[in-house]
This record gives sequence, structure tokens and C-alpha cells, in this order.
Amino acid sequence: MTGLFDPIQIRGVSFKNRIAVSPMSQYRAKGGYANDWHLVHLGRFALGGAGLIFAEATAVEADGRRTHGDLGLWEDGQIELLLPVTKFISKEGSVAGIQLGHAGRKASERRPWHGETPVDEQDIENRKEAPWEAMAPSAIPYAEGWQTPMEMSETQIEKTLQAFKSAARRSTEAGFRVIEIYAAHGFLVHQFLSPITNKRTDKWGGDAQRRCRFAIEVARAVRSEWPEEYPLTFRLSATDWLEGGLEVEDVIDIARALAGEGVDMIDCSTGGIGGRKRPRRMKIAQGFQVPFADRIRQEAGIATMAVGCLWDAKACQVIIGNGNADMIAMARELLDDPNWPLHAAAELGADEGYSMWHSEFGWWLDKRERLIRKLGLR
Ligand SMILES: Cc1cc2nc3c(=O)[nH]c(=O)nc-3n(C[C@H](O)[C@H](O)[C@H](O)COP(=O)(O)O)c2cc1C
Repeated sequence: MTGLFDPIQIRGVSFKNRIAVSPMSQYRAKGGYANDWHLVHLGRFALGGAGLIFAEATAVEADGRRTHGDLGLWEDGQIELLLPVTKFISKEGSVAGIQLGHAGRKASERRPWHGETPVDEQDIENRKEAPWEAMAPSAIPYAEGWQTPMEMSETQIEKTLQAFKSAARRSTEAGFRVIEIYAAHGFLVHQFLSPITNKRTDKWGGDAQRRCRFAIEVARAVRSEWPEEYPLTFRLSATDWLEGGLEVEDVIDIARALAGEGVDMIDCSTGGIGGRKRPRRMKIAQGFQVPFADRIRQEAGIATMAVGCLWDAKACQVIIGNGNADMIAMARELLDDPNWPLHAAAELGADEGYSMWHSEFGWWLDKRERLIRKLGLR
């Protein structure tokens, strides 16, 4: 039976295990530029043994940032500071991935600890951060009190597709080996997919196929620049959890269409399209999104990544063993313990005597373990 620590190969890229660090926005970039924070934050996970390490949601256009602190790849100058990050990750045996996205109507938002509310004049005073105009498939605000985004013109749609394409080229140059398109959680690509946010009557909206057009064009634009041997994944919200929104059956069709465009894996999250309130249908529990990864994998015939409230090594092993998903993505658990993969390997019997650890740590920890046993403490 396949396990969490069995390697996996997707196109020309091999991953040493099935554990991915889920994209986690840090809101620490300045003008979209990375810095030492990103190197240390992501580097810790390479030392901790994750197979795939995603950098956070990275804006393909300056106006497509969610907050002033978002990372960006909308200009060539932003490549250089990401190179030390990808070099470190690859040298230490993991694969560096990047999540490319655009916030659409969720642009111009305050960082979580500043309220996750729209940026306004106060932020100019407090942090010298001005609000900016958001755009979306339709002129519908995200929630009460949020700006009404401008409806994207044909020219803006084409420009944004070009921005995805250029960001894909920059991702290769920055040393990434996996691209994930952020098409979930109510951001721009998801806004085109969902009937709640896309009320267009032109070729970009209407029935399910037309609403899917933007996602397909993003996949084509990215694939046209992204080397054949590198994997391309999409993060989708497998359900909107809302009446009149996307249901998993719709998302299975979307996944199937994307598979036909050279997309290799679907990262199966949920929700985010409505306002701030959690939909009543959404019941959070350990692994509550796994059934979506399972259905999409079986019915769309594409590899999937399961994510959300997964922190138990044995449960993750069962998900992979049962074939519910091909990889597991984790966020908060890895913030708490960046060495989680190495601890999980010991728990599952995939590692003994700290042999999977880098010698700089493992040699000492093995010695310490023997001492603990000699003292009768374990
Ligand atoms: C600090 C933090 C930042 C996040 N930023 C992103 C992001 O940039 N892109 C994204 O798709 N999801 C983001 N998420 C969601 C996670 O990737 C993940 O899907 C979610 O936290 C559920 O997984 P968990 O239960 O393992 O934390 C973020 C989560 C956290 C905790």
C-alpha cells in the first residue's frame, strides 16, 4: 500500500514524500519583493523534511495583491530575491513551488492582524498604505462595507492573462519547479468560476463552460511558458457551501477540463466566495475536505492534494493508502512544528535513528535518544 513517505513523480519532478507545505501568506513583502523572512520561513520546512514547499499566494499584477504585504512576480526585479529561497529548498532535498494568483474583488484588504477589512484613509495615516481600486468579473462587492469592484473589460482580461503568462516565466527563472494557480477561496479565478460572483453575459460568463473559460485560458497561458517537465496544479474550492454556488459536481467538471489543458493535480480546498461569515453548510472537522479530494480524484481522473485540518500522521497515512489523495498539504500544523514530517516519519516507522534528518541535527538527536533510554526515561 502506498504511504505518506513513498516518493511520487509528477512529470519530470520527483518528490521524496507526499507532504506539501500549503501556501501561507506572510504579508511581509515590500512592494511585492521577498526578503530574509521568506527565506527563513520557507527554509525551515526544507530542514523539516517536507517534500514540496509552496511559497505563498504571489500576485501576478500589483493591483492583484490582496494586501500591501503580498509577494509579487509582476516585474523581473522580483525574481532575484526569490532565488536564495528556491536554491536553499532544492539543495536541502525538497521541491520549491509557487502559488500564482490575483485577488480580484478581494484586493486592497488589511492584513489579518489589522482587521482583514478594506484598506482606507486611516491606513495612509497609520502605515502610509493607500487603498486601491479592485476589479472583478462582475461589479459585486465581496461583503458589506467593501468597495464595488470595476467590471473587467475584455482588454483587462487579456492583460491579466498575459500577467499570468509572464509570472510563469519569472517563476521558472526564480527556480520554482511547481506552479499552483490560486483558483479558490474567492479570489479572481474563483470569481470567474462561481455563479455567485460571475454574472457576465459575454463569452466569459453565463453557463458553466463559459465561466470556466478564464481558468482554462490561465492554464493555457501558464503552460505556454512553463516547461513541459514541471508540474502545474490548481487550487480549487471544491464547493462554495452556498445555495446557488458551485457544488462538487461542477468542480469535478472543471477539474476534468483543466486536466485536458496540462494541469497535473488539483489541491482541494473549499469555500471563500461569500462574505466573511462561514456558510452554515460548512462543518469543520478533522479532514473534512478529504472526501472532495477523493471524489475529484476518482471522477475527474486527476491527481489530488488533500488539505484542511490534517495533523495526525496515521490519518494522513490512511488517506494516501486508501487512494483518497496523492499528496497532503498542511499549513497551521507546520507553523506549529516545521519538523512535523520528520516526526511523522518516526511515528509511522518510515525513519529510525534520525536517519532522515540532516546530520547536523540527526547525529545529536540520536545520541540524545540513546542517553534518554540509558537513563530509563523512555
Ligand atoms: C498563515 C496562513 C496563510 C495562508 N495563506 C494562504 C495562501 O496564501 N494561499 C492559500 O491558498 N491558502 C492560504 N492559507 C490556507 C492554507 O493554505 C490551508 O489551506 C488552510 O490553512 C487549511 O489547512 P490547515 O488546517 O493545515 O491549516 C493560509 C493559511 C494560513 C494559516
